[in-house]
Amino acid sequence: MRELLRQTAERASQYLDGLADRSVIPSAEALGQLPELGGPLPSEPSDPEEVLALLDRYGSPATVASAGPRYFGFVTGGSLPAALAANWLAGAWDQNCFAVVMSPVVAALEEITLGWLRDLFGLAAGTGGAFVTGATMANLSGLAAARHALLARAGWDVEGQGLFGAPPLTVVVGDEVHVSLLKALSLLGLGRERVVRVPVDGQGRMRASDLPRLDERTIVCLQAGNVNTGAVDPIREVCTAARSAGAWVHVDGAFGLWLAATPGRAGLLDGIDAADSLATDAHKWLNVPYDSGLVFCRDPEPLRAAMSTAAAYLAATGQREPGQYTPECSRRARVVEVWAALRSLGRAGVADLVERTCRLARRFAAGLAAAGYDVLNEVVANQVLVSFGDVETTRRVIAGVQREGTCWCGGTVWQGQTAMRISVSSWATTEADVDRSLAAIIRVASEVTGRCTPA
Ligand SMILES: Cc1ncc(COP(=O)(O)O)c(C=O)c1O
Repeated sequence: MRELLRQTAERASQYLDGLADRSVIPSAEALGQLPELGGPLPSEPSDPEEVLALLDRYGSPATVASAGPRYFGFVTGGSLPAALAANWLAGAWDQNCFAVVMSPVVAALEEITLGWLRDLFGLAAGTGGAFVTGATMANLSGLAAARHALLARAGWDVEGQGLFGAPPLTVVVGDEVHVSLLKALSLLGLGRERVVRVPVDGQGRMRASDLPRLDERTIVCLQAGNVNTGAVDPIREVCTAARSAGAWVHVDGAFGLWLAATPGRAGLLDGIDAADSLATDAHKWLNVPYDSGLVFCRDPEPLRAAMSTAAAYLAATGQREPGQYTPECSRRARVVEVWAALRSLGRAGVADLVERTCRLARRFAAGLAAAGYDVLNEVVANQVLVSFGDVETTRRVIAGVQREGTCWCGGTVWQGQTAMRISVSSWATTEADVDRSLAAIIRVASEVTGRCTPA
């Protein structure tokens, strides 16, 4: 085992060393060799060292360099050194963190880390939470808590009776709601199409003045960090209206919640402590390995009620039992990487990571605007939208940038306009990476548009 792990550490280090200089997309040759990993399932066992050598030889070159410094697609963080190393150690621990008795260390780390995050985000004292696979499951968990709380108040046991014959709930979302929240609603039987959509402004923020009448059977879903623009809904205004009506407020803060950890940008999240439930990712802006998300509930009891299970062989300890707060029962120890990332960065390091990536996003926006291209959003966070002209031209630039390989940016349609999306989310990205990427993007755009490349 020791020699295998030593060799694996060496292979992983070599992979990471090569990330900054290789093409962000895998070569056609590397992809063409992927069948080497297939063939029929071997009938006999293989030497683990040979298995790892095979995986590295054909697998590593075929990866997308999304852990590297010039991947700006979707909202994708890399892996901080402490987080990656902790992930390896946790793999060796192989803890099942369903119950305290199965892993006292993980149960303790979860409580410690939830406390740190409560403090970092400025959430209300007593806020509880849980570690899940990502923001989609965090949205599902927060909304399950909401569903429980509102229906229990109406005298309905939704966990026991389901939604058959239940008093109806109204779900309010902004028109720019993320698809994963709609997916969570559909999984919960709340329906992705029976939502009430509230109009948004030019940045995608919900217009609070257009909220429908709220009542004690309404869940209002806000967004902290629009996936295209990075904009944040007016949290305090909506929470104040919801509180006086007895409605529940859930905030999807997949990446935007991390803005609350920076003194300079926390104002965007003003009122966050009044939200009833919140979802976020650690695998995005905190830069821990996939997969890692968190749900928070101001009152943890509805979350526990929505998620808990009981059986004679699952004796409770009277402590916080991790598996009573999550959709899963058996679960890996995701907290380990979150704890290590926070412990290594400290409060100042988290703030710096978020601020730095926001500054780099502005650098992108300034460089593209200086080259004569239209930046479509106010760059309030780490997201930049740029148009290179008409639909076809912008699409050709995006495809060209993706093929060229210096960096990777995706596409989108923002309020009717086709755009390239740039998301700066990795701890590893430097100013030099942005400048190198800008030069590549502008070069491709000049070729497509026929405009001169500015000096
Ligand atoms: C606002 C928002 N919510 C939810 C998600 C889904 O996150 P995950 O893929 O981690 O489940 C994303 C992903 O980009 C997002 O931006």
